[in-house]
Amino acid sequence: MDTMKNFKRSCYCGEPRISDVGKEISVCGWVQRSRDLGKLIFTDVRDRTGIIQLAFDDATAEDVFAKAVTLRSEFVVAAKGVLRERSSKNKDIPTGEVELDVKDLRILAQSETPPFEIVENSDVNDMLRLKYRYLDLRRPDMQRTIAMRHKVAKLARDYFDENGFYEIETPMLTKSTPEGARDYLVPSRVHPGSFYALPQSPQQYKQLLMLAGFDRYIQIVRCFRDEDLRADRQPEFTQIDLEMSFVDQDDVIAVNEGFIKRVFKEILDVDIQTPFLRMPYKEAMDRFGSDKPDMRFGIELCDISDIVKDCGFKVFSGPAQGGGSVRLICVPGGAEKFPRKKIDSLVDFVKTYGAKGLAWTRLADQTTSSYAKFLTEEENAAILERAGAKQGDLVLIVADAKNDVVYASLGALRCEIAKRLELTRKDDYKFLWVTEFPMFEYSEEENRYVAKHHPFTAPMDEDIDKLECDKAACRAKAYDIVLNGTELGGGSIRINTPEMQESMFRALGFTDEEANLRFSHLINAFRYGAPPHGGMAYGLDRLVMLMTGADSIRDVIAFPKVQNASEPMTCCPDVVDDKQLTELCICIAEKSNKIVL
Ligand code: AMO
Ligand code: AMP
Repeated sequence: MDTMKNFKRSCYCGEPRISDVGKEISVCGWVQRSRDLGKLIFTDVRDRTGIIQLAFDDATAEDVFAKAVTLRSEFVVAAKGVLRERSSKNKDIPTGEVELDVKDLRILAQSETPPFEIVENSDVNDMLRLKYRYLDLRRPDMQRTIAMRHKVAKLARDYFDENGFYEIETPMLTKSTPEGARDYLVPSRVHPGSFYALPQSPQQYKQLLMLAGFDRYIQIVRCFRDEDLRADRQPEFTQIDLEMSFVDQDDVIAVNEGFIKRVFKEILDVDIQTPFLRMPYKEAMDRFGSDKPDMRFGIELCDISDIVKDCGFKVFSGPAQGGGSVRLICVPGGAEKFPRKKIDSLVDFVKTYGAKGLAWTRLADQTTSSYAKFLTEEENAAILERAGAKQGDLVLIVADAKNDVVYASLGALRCEIAKRLELTRKDDYKFLWVTEFPMFEYSEEENRYVAKHHPFTAPMDEDIDKLECDKAACRAKAYDIVLNGTELGGGSIRINTPEMQESMFRALGFTDEEANLRFSHLINAFRYGAPPHGGMAYGLDRLVMLMTGADSIRDVIAFPKVQNASEPMTCCPDVVDDKQLTELCICIAEKSNKIVL
């Protein structure tokens, strides 16, 4: 095999242009493909910037030509020669007007036939892609995505540095604290039976850094959460995490709007208008059935509980009288686009969100309805009027004794309809701040109130007295940044007194003893002068996912995990030697088999 001895690359494959013709250049890369036409060989060589054509012909030295004959896809080569104009130009690539008349060719590594072709957007099975991720990453679209991810991270460092933030590292081996998702635990060898937890976020440390006087902190930090995977969730993911002292919500929002504006301008050349729209949580739920509404289209929810409260149709009147609600969405022009059969698929769709059914009216040439016969003419007319329904529209209604079910099913349905009717574009970026989140949410599983954001979030000043006595109505100084229906980030203004932090833990059902056991470091710290502070964290993976238009968070992470939290390339997690377990004083109750992918 040849080596790099006395060979210096002069440029990347994607760089040479017609104006460089006549220059001697040298390039390195992977053979995309080689066409052997007998006396002529054309070899496309690829690196992270693009492709250049190498040409070998009658005039090529014999030994160089002999080597060129052996080239196969994904061989690694270095070539030196003189750039010349191509006779048949390729308009599809930036280097398509030139080719390299090769004088020196080196084969630096050979390659077996890869399990799939290294081309853009190829239709390859996901598991195969991930098993050979290093080959998958060679594809130009993956190269672009990972490069964009680098640029976003760099810009975050630059922007926050310019705004006075210090990048400070926080520990990866931390203390497990209740609340939030399940922890990934790391056993201690030195303290048998004790465990570190990998951080779900650096929340407490960054607050302590404010207490320590650093004023502004940022970290691009790996976080770990042992939760079920989805298209926008990974067990390990990266946050752009920040915290600021002596601020209120408006200050945090302003600095972050500046960041988003800069990222989108510098990386995508898209102008984002600031300030972003702000909407209280309650309004977001009432209008869109979601705390992360997609603002690229309308089809808002509309409450008709008052109209049907006393109607003769139990499906509606029951929930309307029983603490639930009856709401609808009206799809403009939906009557034609959703014939009967397609409506059935919408009924099935809402059922996956817990709805018991979906009542509908199609205002087609002939109006048809699944429920009108159970209501009076006046009630039917009032519903359509409230919906603002016109001829040609489709009205879809969900009734449920649980408001959460009505919101979740109609909130998801409006997005599903927008998807089916192609009402949105991926490059239409609609940002929104959702504010005034509830402080608590009730956990059926744990049978108690838990913090909706986290237990370090301050209540809204006007709701402090509700912390203990009216938890359902207590709002927090918490905010999420939402982009096109995805929660991009979230944060809050924090509690900064020991008294308030203690009453928050009490409100969450901790005894003073439990709170002390887990959080004494924080409560104690608050006794030594904690400045008012607040911050937020973005999901870097989600930000890059939306900027690249990727469908899955996996596509923007170099080595992601799959649905069952394993990694197909290295096949982790894996069993370990008994010796390692013995050292850790760990005994496995039930030995699982090695992961089968
Ligand atoms: P939160 O839990 O809302 O807040 O997380 C902040 C952001 O991180 C991203 N994110 C994820 N991305 C990928 N996979 C996951 N499993 C995952 N979980 C969260 C989301 C989310 O908006 N410490 C607080 C922030 C603060 O209050 O300052 C926190 O972690 O984009
Ligand atoms: P039924 O009398 O059960 O045939 O219901 C009449 C219509 O009401 C059908 O279109 C059902 O899909 C719909 N429906 C049933 N339950 C609900 C519900 N909880 N919310 C909205 N529509 C419902």
